[in-house]
Amino acid sequence: MFVLGIETSCDETSASVVSEHFRVQSQVVLSQMEHSDFGGVVPEIASRLHSRNIHSVVNKAIQDANLSLLDIDGIAVTYGPGLIGSLVVGLMYAKGLAQSMNIPYIGINHLEGHIFSIFLTYPELKPPILFLLASGGHTEIILMKDFGEYEVLGHTVDDAAGECFDKVAKMLGLPYPGGPYIDKLAKHGDENFVEFPVPQHGNFNFSFSGLKTAVLYYLNKHPKGFVEEHKNDIIASFQKALVEALCDRMRKAIAYTNVKKVAIVGGVSNNSYLREQCSRTLKQTELYFPERIYTTDNAAMIGAAGLLRLKRGERSPLSLAVKPSLYIEEANK
Ligand code: KG4
Ligand code: ZN
Repeated sequence: MFVLGIETSCDETSASVVSEHFRVQSQVVLSQMEHSDFGGVVPEIASRLHSRNIHSVVNKAIQDANLSLLDIDGIAVTYGPGLIGSLVVGLMYAKGLAQSMNIPYIGINHLEGHIFSIFLTYPELKPPILFLLASGGHTEIILMKDFGEYEVLGHTVDDAAGECFDKVAKMLGLPYPGGPYIDKLAKHGDENFVEFPVPQHGNFNFSFSGLKTAVLYYLNKHPKGFVEEHKNDIIASFQKALVEALCDRMRKAIAYTNVKKVAIVGGVSNNSYLREQCSRTLKQTELYFPERIYTTDNAAMIGAAGLLRLKRGERSPLSLAVKPSLYIEEANK
């Protein structure tokens, strides 16, 4: 079975062909660079660029898999959560293509897509699995009890982890998205230079806006020259506090659930310090990270979730509408 995955929930136009055992036959990701001058994604620009590029991105994914459109057995497309205008482009394109080819299609929850990114790297992995999903829009601890059966144990009460990375990066004059820049620069800094408070919020919840404000106050309190000289130290110290919060909540969730298989997914799971710290501190667990190409938004993860659901006989009606806000529990069977 060949499933065409389509992802347009934010600022990546992506298409991928996924086959049995979560095998990725091809993946094309077109990241929209046009937003970097604005310091964040401009929804209007994002949807126009998706419209312009989706057709060629899908064609390239099919060509790269050495297939023709006639070989595709089903389509999986993100229908939420995300930017409404961006989601509409992918969903309408998928519906049109499925209808014209007379093949089934299914709407996929983007959060479930991130969860399925782990099976692209570890196709044999089986639930129960405890997930930390940390991206630009979400930070959640999710227990996958079975395929398509999820329970949220904790979530952020304000900013997402990736959003916090990006906002702190912006304060320091780094380009958008800032997470990858922080990751790189922190390697040259002293993580113990400033003791930023490790955000606390109940047992399994996260709160990152206080940490962001603490960095802002620190920057405002110190002369520009000093900040410039110690930029990497400040960045490393901030990253340490944020990552410690993520690891701490995960330790508690592991103890509470007694689930030993732990996967960390989403754009922030790309972060090298997070990978190191989790490997060092989450003891007696089997720890899994997706390959880096599947951490940020991509269509292979959507194709993987779609493969499982289409094989189960699930279908979406043509009346399915985009859902800009959608919770992972809504993917429960
Ligand atoms: O999963 P994703 O592509 O999009 C959402 O669904 O939100 O995640 C994007 C987020 C951005 O906030 C970006 O700064 C962050 O992931 N990110 C990183 C790294 N790579 C991407 N954050 C920290 N370190 C990284 N290496
Ligand atoms: Zn995402």
